[in-house]
Amino acid sequence: MDTVHDPADLRRACDAARARGARVGLVPTMGALHEGHATLVRAAAERADFVVVTVFVNPTQFGPNEDFARYPRTLDADRALAKEAGAALVFAPEGRAMYPEGDETRVHVGETAAALCGAHRPGHFEGVTTVVAKFFALAGPCVALFGRKDYQQLKVIERMTRDLLLPVEIVGVPTVREPDGLALSSRNRYLSAAARQSALAIPTGLSRASALFAKGERNAGALRAACREPIAAVADSIDYVELADPDRVTPFPDDARVPDRTLLAVALRLGGARLIDNVVLGEDRAPLEVP
Ligand code: PAJ
Repeated sequence: MDTVHDPADLRRACDAARARGARVGLVPTMGALHEGHATLVRAAAERADFVVVTVFVNPTQFGPNEDFARYPRTLDADRALAKEAGAALVFAPEGRAMYPEGDETRVHVGETAAALCGAHRPGHFEGVTTVVAKFFALAGPCVALFGRKDYQQLKVIERMTRDLLLPVEIVGVPTVREPDGLALSSRNRYLSAAARQSALAIPTGLSRASALFAKGERNAGALRAACREPIAAVADSIDYVELADPDRVTPFPDDARVPDRTLLAVALRLGGARLIDNVVLGEDRAPLEVP
């Protein structure tokens, strides 16, 4: 497995792979790779012959007071994990290579990117879509894989790909969780042992709402309250606990009757980390069997 840093080398390697008749698959990441990322790479290897993993802590998707500077950077370990999972190439560019001097272009997605994380992290999704569009342009993948852990991000990228007529199939991969239900995240490394324990309130809240939903509850306020209660008991602050249309990512007010497929998404701050998680009620299994 090779590692390249120069965008021209990534383009050359993907051109050569296509010239041999290989299908290129792309897994964009910010590194600090874990089993969730490895699952994406393995899923890519099932769908493509030449799997590229990008490792780039993308500055434009971080706000001024966010964790860009302290985001974990572990390229050697990332390379080993990517190789083990079936990657053919790791692309780890410098910031300047992805954002040339004088850069002033952003990809803006509308309503899909407006609520939830879009409302709480201004400019975040523009940074994500812009860098992903650049990776698509460089690698020319047939297929690109994204985790449902970042559900709104997946929907925003699907929207961008349709709207810009990009010839890439977008595949969403189910969230990988620890045995105790916590979703794997690079940001879990920020958590102390005590905060890690408190974070179990997230799968608990999602699972309580899932259980109510399975019993027939369809009132948005009741489902939201069931999810929010355990989270409010441990979080330093809550960005949101929302029910939303799972395709358009538009929130439902508390007095709404939600449909039989509904996104329940949460974002909170706990022990110095911002953690997000979600389930699509009526579609995903609850994170915990007995909440
Ligand atoms: P990052 O947070 O590194 O995540 C890279 C990919 O791994 C995303 O598609 C994310 O949804 C997926 N992922 C993370 N944790 C997961 C888990 N527990 N189960 C399944 N998939 C998981 O998301 C980003 O980076 C960036 O925004 C990026 C798309 C690379 C653009 O910079």
